[in-house]
This record gives sequence, C-alpha cells and structure tokens, in this order.
Amino acid sequence: MKFEKNILCIGAGYVGGPSMAVFALKCPQYKITVADVNKDRIKAWNSDKLPVYEPGLDEVVRETRGRNLFFDTNIAKCIKEADIIFVSVNTPTKTFGIGAGKAANLQFVEKVAREILKESDSNKIVVEKSTLPVKTAEALKRILYSDHEKGVHFQVVSNPEFLAEGTAIEDMKDPDRVLIGSEQTPEGIRARDEIVEIYANWVPREKIITANIWSSELSKLVANAFLAQRVSSINSISALCERTGADINEVSYAIGCDSRIGPKFLKASVGFGGSCFKKDILNLVYIAQSYGLKEVADYWEQVITMNEYQETRFVDRMVRLMFNTVTDKKIALLGFAFKTNTGDTRESPAILISKKLIEEKAEVVITDPKALENARKDLADYKDLVTFEDDPYKAAEGAHAIAILTAWEQYATLDYKRIYDAMEHPAFIFDGCNLLDINKMYELGFNIIPLGRPSRARDI
Ligand code: UDX
Ligand code: UDX
Repeated sequence: MKFEKNILCIGAGYVGGPSMAVFALKCPQYKITVADVNKDRIKAWNSDKLPVYEPGLDEVVRETRGRNLFFDTNIAKCIKEADIIFVSVNTPTKTFGIGAGKAANLQFVEKVAREILKESDSNKIVVEKSTLPVKTAEALKRILYSDHEKGVHFQVVSNPEFLAEGTAIEDMKDPDRVLIGSEQTPEGIRARDEIVEIYANWVPREKIITANIWSSELSKLVANAFLAQRVSSINSISALCERTGADINEVSYAIGCDSRIGPKFLKASVGFGGSCFKKDILNLVYIAQSYGLKEVADYWEQVITMNEYQETRFVDRMVRLMFNTVTDKKIALLGFAFKTNTGDTRESPAILISKKLIEEKAEVVITDPKALENARKDLADYKDLVTFEDDPYKAAEGAHAIAILTAWEQYATLDYKRIYDAMEHPAFIFDGCNLLDINKMYELGFNIIPLGRPSRARDI
C-alpha cells in the first residue's frame, strides 16, 4: 500500500512511543515509524512487553504495529524516507558546565539535527516535540540551514507535548488543545498547516491552536510551571493545616469550587514528581536568569523549594512521630511510582523518602504494582539495605509502619485488619496520599497520620 505521508519520530520514549501509536491509530493513511538509538528499547516496542506502561497502549500498538506503525533502529534510512520528522529525544537537566543543574542538555537534540542534515536528500519538516528551552528552534534551524550547497530545505515547527503519564493515550485521543508554533513566513505557515492537517484527522479544528514559534516553546514550560505551582501552593497549605487542625481536603474542595480557581491539581501530596515539572521549571528559572530577570527566576524557583520541603517534611515527620528513631524498624513503602497508573519513577518523592529512611538505618521494604523494576535501579547504590516485594501484605509483615506514597487504587481496599495483625505494635500508617478512612484505621488499632489533616493516634 502507498501511504500518503511518511512520518518519523526519533526517540521511542514515554513521549514518542505513545504519541506515535495514536497517530498511527487515527491516521491509517500515513506510515508512522518510531526510531531510537537504543536497540533494546526498539526490540521491546516490537515485542509483547512494551517498554512503557500506559493504560490502553497495548491495544493501540496491537492494532497498528505492522499495519502503519513501525519501530526501527536504522535512523539514517528512516530519515531518508521521511517527509516529516518529530524529534522526541530526551532533554535532561545539564549536570556539567554552564547552566549545570538548571539548563537543558541539548546534546541529543543537536546530534539528531546533525544526523537529519547529513542523511536528508529531500525537503523535510522537522517538528520539535521534546520540551525545549525557548529559542531552541533557532539552534535547530541554524544547524539544519547550515549546508547551503545541499539544496535540501527544512522547516522547523514546534509542537509541544501536553500528555500526562497514565492518561497519555486518552490525552492524545482527546486533547484539551494541540499547539503548533511556526515561523510566520509563507513557508513556515505551509509547514505548520501540514502538521495541523495530521491532527485534524481526529481533533476538532477549534482545539488546534497556532502561534509563533517562541510562544509555542514558552507555553509548554509555562503550562508545566503553573501546574507544579498549584501543587506546591496546596502542599504549602497542608503544612499549615497540620499545625492548625484544618483539613487540606476540605480547604481544597472549598477553594476549588470557585470557578475562577477550579478543582484540578489541588490534591496535597508528598510532592510532585515526574520527568517534566522540575526540569521545566529549572529551565524557566535559567532562562529568566539569563535575561537578567532575577525576581522572575526567584519566584519560580520557590515552587521547587516548596516541593523539596514537602518531601523532606513528610519523612522527618515519620521519624519524629515514631519516637524519634526508625533504626532497625521495618518500614513498608506502599507505592514508588511518581503517580498512579505508571511504572515511571523519575523524580518520584519516594526516592528521597527511601534514601532518608535508609540513612536513618530503617529496614525499608518497597512494594509497587508497576514500578519495582525502576525502583531497583533508582536505589541500586543501596541494594543491600532495601528489599523489594510484589505483595503488599508480605511487605507489611512485621513492619512498624507503612507509608503510602503512590495513590494506587488497590491500596485503598487492602485488608487492613490482616495487615494490622501481621505488623509490630504500635503500628503506624503515614498516608501520604490521603487514601484511607481515618476513623476506620483508628478503630482497627492503627496510629493513622494523614497528610494535612488531623491525625488519630493512641501512641503519640
Ligand atoms: C523526553 C523528555 O524528557 C521530554 O522533555 C520531552 O518532551 C520528550 O522526550 P521521554 O519520552 O519521557 O521524554 O524521554 P525518554 O523516555 O528518555 O525517551 C527518549 C528516547 O530518545 C530514548 O529512548 C533514547 O534512547 C532516545 N534517544 C536519545 C535517541 O534515539 N537518540 C539520541 O541521540 C538520544
Ligand atoms: C505533566 C503534565 O501534566 C503534562 O501536561 C506534561 O506534558 C508532562 O508533565 P506528568 O508528569 O505525567 O505530566 O504528571 P501529572 O499528572 O501532571 O502529575 C505530576 C505530579 O504532580 C505527580 O507526581 C502527581 O502526583 C503530582 N500531583 C498532581 C499532585 O501532587 N497533586 C495534584 O493535584 C496533581
């Protein structure tokens, strides 16, 4: 069959894989290829056990793989064949040199741009899908436009990704909006319209927003910064609730009913995690600093400071309430993923919490329905000091305390009587997700310490 367009995505990660799977599902007339330098990852995408867990992803890949969705490691060949190339490689925070700890490391993006230039023998549209600092398109353009002899023309378009892990497939199928930024030249607008046309196969036109390329790049950072700011705001209030007897759930509900504030992203937690929030805010801070906007930079940096405070505060409180020592006490951590419905643990608050407990010489046991493999990697340096356990009941056996760190639904409905009976007493539950009924847990015998809400405890 002859396909209408050949679309390539370089980077088969959490973003590239699921996004392209939905492209393939919604646009059977296009050939979609996802390429990656990591051979094992591509092998996994071509197997029955996909490298990324997302609800609904298996079904979409099963329907499209081999029909119009392909996973490949031969990036050079794929570039030659493509009309449109999405770049979805990772852009981690720089760990060295200028901007270390804040700026995005663009080495992979740049490498990919050079490869595209080298391998292309026909015109292409290059779409930046990785989250990138403002003005990266400029850098991409400079590389791609640098070989004047070649006679190949590139157009750079920005199409930031707003999908959230755990709901990536739904977000792609029914997005709040799609944002496409381009140069405001006739060629830029033509390229932009080609990308609009892809999404218009399933997204209503009024939800496809177009903008200039800098607005598009900046909007992605700002969207994540605003979302993270809401979490930090409510978490800051959770600390105040614990001191005053107010209940954070009641406060969230009351303020969220104001239609100007709205109810979403007001759930207090042990802190936000995920690959994007911290990285994107650090990036925003770095950009503001580099333009000399100190107050702007300081303002946004505070969102991260508050998040670190929340994580540390949670674990400090555990130690304090367990009679100031957790040494040799078994503590079961229920949940390690940075949120539910994902096996991803990047920047998960559970990492810091585990490390601090291990430093306090507690006997840490970690359980999680999806994230144990990643948890093992995150705690590789401590592998003799921590245990991993699939079964939450076994994890809790003989424990002095359990802490709920990820709001997995199944943790709300465990048999807590059975758990209580198998634990050491006094038994503590630190409910970092406010998942459990406080009174019920208290009646069972637990000291129950929720987050930002009044505790019920006999033994403290
Ligand atoms: C990443 C970024 O974190 C995010 O900011 C951006 O919006 C999209 O890319 P994610 O898909 O979650 O998100 O990253 P990751 O799962 O690490 O996937 C990136 C993939 O790119 C990896 O599979 C990596 O092997 C691949 N890659 C990286 C290349 O194919 N070539 C390279 O040169 C570098
Ligand atoms: C986020 C953005 O939502 C998405 O648009 C962007 O493309 C990538 O970054 P993601 O990191 O997958 O997506 O997860 P998200 O659902 O936004 O949650 C981020 C973190 O905030 C999680 O750790 C979550 O537990 C936490 N959170 C979220 C709260 O603590 N309280 C809330 O009310 C909401």
